[in-house]
Amino acid sequence: MRLTARVPATSANLGPGFDCFGLALDLCNEVTIDTEGEPGVSWEGEGADELATDGTDMVSRAMRFAQGKVAGGRGTGVHALPPLHLHGVNRIPLERGLGSSAAATVAGIALVYAFFDLADGEPNPLAAFPLAAFSLAAEFEGHPDNAAAAVFGGFTIVTDGGLVRRFDPHPDLRPVVLIPEDVRLSTEDARRALPTQVLLDDAVFNASHAALTVAALLHEPALLLAALRDRLHQDVRLSLVPEVREVFELLRSKEVPVCVSGAGPSLLAFEDIGHQVPDPGEGWRAVRISVRSAGVEIVRAV
Ligand code: HSE
Repeated sequence: MRLTARVPATSANLGPGFDCFGLALDLCNEVTIDTEGEPGVSWEGEGADELATDGTDMVSRAMRFAQGKVAGGRGTGVHALPPLHLHGVNRIPLERGLGSSAAATVAGIALVYAFFDLADGEPNPLAAFPLAAFSLAAEFEGHPDNAAAAVFGGFTIVTDGGLVRRFDPHPDLRPVVLIPEDVRLSTEDARRALPTQVLLDDAVFNASHAALTVAALLHEPALLLAALRDRLHQDVRLSLVPEVREVFELLRSKEVPVCVSGAGPSLLAFEDIGHQVPDPGEGWRAVRISVRSAGVEIVRAV
């Protein structure tokens, strides 16, 4: 059997929605498993030469995790994956705040669900898996905000209790992802830098701006400049990467709505006719990209 998972990049937080909001972007990794292929792992694309090929990569680990969890809950039928070849085409840059770990996790988990169901002869294998895949991905990878958008697409809101809702953002949104070529930030480092307690004023500020961000994304993109403001995480994170702060402030000075993408260091901006993203200069990639409506998809090769 040959199955491919196509899974989108995601931008978490969107400024004030720390650990709650996610947006799927039309930049997808593809991971193929082939049970007829030579057992092993291979990669191409972004970061291919730094990804493990001994089965310790994130997709393979997520597959083993999902296999253990899913098999335990099944009655009859297939309970284990056979030896297989795994090939990944990576388009999401690593450690740039664009959800590459969530994408790898969701791809692995979705492939396990699809394989088990197809091997059992289930005619509509993917009908039931998204919510279960989301819960497993959030448990395995630890960032439900990225996992939700990777599984469901569009704009997603999660709570710490695991409740998730997906929305179609306003069609006029024009996201631009600004990726610093040579700056990387691991999510662990970017989280370690955050304070463990916040001021009540700052919590209120974020709650009001998060609510406004939802209104802006779904109904009134012109509100984004006012809405995308945060007092919980962005300032600390931008202080870790001063070259990114410069570009962030340049965009703000041009009245372009901008936030740190996930834990950074990439930025997510939204442009409109009057407020274009200026050229961020050497060492930056500015990618104009659509919101992706679909989350993870599985394609079976015939
Ligand atoms: N909400 C998480 C964070 C996202 O900002 O740390 C990590 O991608």
